[in-house]
Amino acid sequence: MTRKAAVVMAAGLGTRMRSTTVKVLHPVAGRPMVHYPVRMALELGCDPVVVIVGHQRDAVAAYLADAFPNHPVRTAVQAEQKGTAHAVGCAQDALEGFEGDVFILSGDVPTLPLETVKALDATTGDAAVGVIGMRLDDPRAYGRLVRGDDGALARIVEFRDCAPEQRTINEVNAGIYRVDATFLFETLANIDSDNAQGEFYLTDIVQAASEGGRGVATLVLTGDTAEDANGVNDRVDLSEAEARMQARLRTQWMRAGVTLRDPSTTYFADDIEIGVDTVIEPGSTIATGTRIGERCIIGNGCHLTGALIADDVHLKAYTHLEDAQIGPRCIIGPFARLRPGTVLHAGVKIGNFVETKKTVMHAGAKASHLSYLGDATIGAKANIGAGTITCNYDGENKHPTVVGAGAFIGSNTALVAPVTVADGAFVGGGSTITDNVPAGALAIGRGRQKNIEGWVERRERAKEQ
Ligand code: UD1
Ligand code: MG
Repeated sequence: MTRKAAVVMAAGLGTRMRSTTVKVLHPVAGRPMVHYPVRMALELGCDPVVVIVGHQRDAVAAYLADAFPNHPVRTAVQAEQKGTAHAVGCAQDALEGFEGDVFILSGDVPTLPLETVKALDATTGDAAVGVIGMRLDDPRAYGRLVRGDDGALARIVEFRDCAPEQRTINEVNAGIYRVDATFLFETLANIDSDNAQGEFYLTDIVQAASEGGRGVATLVLTGDTAEDANGVNDRVDLSEAEARMQARLRTQWMRAGVTLRDPSTTYFADDIEIGVDTVIEPGSTIATGTRIGERCIIGNGCHLTGALIADDVHLKAYTHLEDAQIGPRCIIGPFARLRPGTVLHAGVKIGNFVETKKTVMHAGAKASHLSYLGDATIGAKANIGAGTITCNYDGENKHPTVVGAGAFIGSNTALVAPVTVADGAFVGGGSTITDNVPAGALAIGRGRQKNIEGWVERRERAKEQ
């Protein structure tokens, strides 16, 4: 079998994004857009995958190392961006000795489906160069596919180099290629920068292959498949790529057995998982790193990041989860905020306006209303009354609170950490608890109430005088 390698061009700044962040690190469906072509190249079986980096190369390389550990992904530096031919030329050392097919992908085309590149592979066959074209109603500033008298692709002319009649051509270059490695590097060495932009154009390999009789194949996409091959050059393109990706993810999850009450208002990161028979109500965002089990209900307006949610969980409307772990059958919200380090065991109930952080709640524990639980461990079936606050921070350090199994914390209690309320103990409502409470005890820590009999009448009389 012919060997495959890939070059992913990702060195440009992306001036039209008007951003301090390099274009290929702008996210689409929660992943930097460079992720998608690199993943695709790996799925195609490319080894190595050489990513050409330039602007913010350290940040791009760090992302790739983190996202694709133990994969044959390398970077090659293009210090100065002299054009796409020069960019691919920078992969020459990394591909030293490689013979076979080189897939050339763009770091800024995140929605290109794998099937399209597989189709390019099949179409290219024995030709030295295969090119993906798009037939578009509005061909914009893309390079134009110029065909010879025989109808075969003769060359690609960049928009700025086009004669007026060439600009009317609506078949354009998507910037995705499969090229024979030996032909590629031999040809790149002879490309010049004698054009409107003074750049070394990769597109010149087409004319070289055509004139040299080496074979040029073209896969022309139309309709939605052409839309999917669009690159991102500015923030409008970015929003369109996001919309295409979201449409794809919504369809994918519905086909996998997830009900989306109003698909157009539900947002997904690319890396999430959802079990069958889960229902997602309108307006929710299922962001990066989230895994949702089976038969869950995700209410309106929930925002979930890095949330690990077991089966049969009910998140009521406007619940916010960040790096939180939710056990089976928990009921949470509405309006709950569970912050990083929250771990809820089976059947925990969290009600409205409850915030947790670095807090473990064991099976069946409840905090139903208006609480802050930080750096706390709450025992099985303990009940945290309305308005209970852990005073976990003394201005310098954080301290732990432990509430034992079956303990009962009365409403409006302040638990001043470090403090432990042992198993089965009770705390009277309105208490400020500064000392540990032993098992089985009742603790009351508040000013004693005094009733002054007849006080109202005496005040009225005093006013009359
Ligand atoms: C390129 C094609 C054009 C095609 C279009 C499709 C050329 C000469 N033109 O134009 O025919 O219609 O893509 O999107 O190839 N890059 C580098 N180093 C460089 C220059 C570019 O790494 O020196 C990277 C960019 O970061 C980007 C990609 O290559 O990811 C494409 O570059 P871009 O400047 O966007 O090329 P276009 O002008 O869009
Ligand atoms: Mg471009």
